[in-house]
Amino acid sequence: MSIQLDSHTGVAGAVHAQAERDTQDALSLEVTLCGVRFRNPIVLASGILGLSEEIFARLARSGIGGITTKSCSLQPRVGWHNPTIVSWGHGLINAVGLSNPGVEVMVEEIRAARRHLQPLGVPIIASIFATTIYDFGTLARYVSEAEPDLIEVNISCPNLDAQHEEMFSSNAYVSGQVTRAVKRNARCPVVVKLSPNVDNIVTIAREVANNGADAICAINSLGPGMVLDIESAKPVLANRTGGVSGPAIRPIAVRCVYDICRALRGMGVQVIGTGGVTDARDAIEMILAGATCVGVGSAVHARGLGVFAEMTAGIADYMRRHGYRSLDEFRGRAL
Ligand SMILES: Cc1cc2nc3c(=O)[nH]c(=O)nc-3n(C[C@H](O)[C@H](O)[C@H](O)COP(=O)(O)O)c2cc1C
Repeated sequence: MSIQLDSHTGVAGAVHAQAERDTQDALSLEVTLCGVRFRNPIVLASGILGLSEEIFARLARSGIGGITTKSCSLQPRVGWHNPTIVSWGHGLINAVGLSNPGVEVMVEEIRAARRHLQPLGVPIIASIFATTIYDFGTLARYVSEAEPDLIEVNISCPNLDAQHEEMFSSNAYVSGQVTRAVKRNARCPVVVKLSPNVDNIVTIAREVANNGADAICAINSLGPGMVLDIESAKPVLANRTGGVSGPAIRPIAVRCVYDICRALRGMGVQVIGTGGVTDARDAIEMILAGATCVGVGSAVHARGLGVFAEMTAGIADYMRRHGYRSLDEFRGRAL
């Protein structure tokens, strides 16, 4: 599947002009997540785009608030065979297998991303993935060398190989221990990314918060799921099963964000609401449920980088209609 990168450049130009008018109206989309300032709440979700000079330039122009890198491991990982990402009508199903070049290369890529994006006020969230608690700690130390603004801890990938019997995030105690190991080694705030595939996401969220998580990202993709090609009678993915994302999972993501924000009120833990967000309306829904930032993944596959500018324009429009001048005025209103 190819990604349309600049399909809405005209929209982005109009949105920048509107952003200037918004500044004059004293309307601000700025948010602060764990002490880090974002020019707006819309963040690229992990795993959606690789880091390259071309992509940095396009991201910088896209009006995005922040970016999350693809999850990196200590050693390079090849990942699964193609097809790894398939659009099935109401979202995506993917089994990429966490392919990545390993932390050494990733540190250089994050440094390059910082050079391009930090001068524009676009923070970088470095995502890490490991197979042991100890390795999570080691990775946090290595990746900190690149000085990302935040580290996101992926304990919730649904595409596990035979070595991994269950996701870390299925178990509250283990999730807490991973969080503790990362916090001990990280030199920036830590976001822990949770899975919806658990009995009670609040139990896991509370445990990671009690072990030092500064923020929670909810949710990773749902599943694993399966889509069959009825002509060949075979699964569409080479790995047979994969994580389900996109519009179909949004109500589950909103419920998770709502429950976590309600349960953890007063603990000072912020939330990145991710899952099925496709337009401004969906992003506003996440903010009403209590999210500080909003992660966008599958929508970039479907609609290109223009979605970011469209979302911020739509949020600003909503704020104007309701007389809000900052996101603080309506964040968590549904709670
Ligand atoms: C192709 C693809 C690759 C992904 N890779 C990662 C990854 O490396 N690390 C991670 O934490 N999440 C990964 N995710 C999950 C997304 O970051 C996000 O949590 C999920 O897709 C739900 O958001 P969406 O509905 O906006 O896509 C991936 C999702 C997709 C579709």
